[in-house]
Amino acid sequence: MILPIFTYGNAVLRKKADPVTKDDPKLKELIDNMFETMYHAEGVGLAAPQIGLPIRILVIDLKALKEDNPELGSFKVVMINPEMVEMSEDEVTNEEGCLSIPGIHETVSRAQIIKIKYLDADYNENIGEFDGYKARVIQHEYDHLEGSLFTDKVSPIRRQLLKSKLTNIVKGKASTSYKTKPAQS
Ligand code: NI
Repeated sequence: MILPIFTYGNAVLRKKADPVTKDDPKLKELIDNMFETMYHAEGVGLAAPQIGLPIRILVIDLKALKEDNPELGSFKVVMINPEMVEMSEDEVTNEEGCLSIPGIHETVSRAQIIKIKYLDADYNENIGEFDGYKARVIQHEYDHLEGSLFTDKVSPIRRQLLKSKLTNIVKGKASTSYKTKPAQS
């Protein structure tokens, strides 16, 4: 089922998400819905707060990048209760966007390499090391679980320039190809 995506200004995007308790029978369906919602919106990652649920689940599938980058294209992952273990001091910059902040793309600096602990969709414990674009997308989605957004990471001057666009998103005036749940409408 495709769910509406909660956009900038909704309180759920600013809350630190709670851990998932084991063996929730509805979790499989929720994860399926998250992937379906993400594919429909042509995104590469989605965190549960973006569908209004303050719980620690994120999904990523980079298959949209397959044509230009086959190695990235096969990367698909579900992370339940992820915990960042290590982040490299070396950072890299690249452009980011977010389904919850439609129409805004900004250059953001992120750790180049990360190590992260998580449960997969079957509750198996994993620890993975990721670099480059994979590490970037994981950090972006992980930030959602911490109540942080990529626009928090841009310079104060850039943020000032984004102000009116962000206000429009809060008011539900941003146009999207997918269904959203604006903070005000
Ligand atoms: Ni996002």
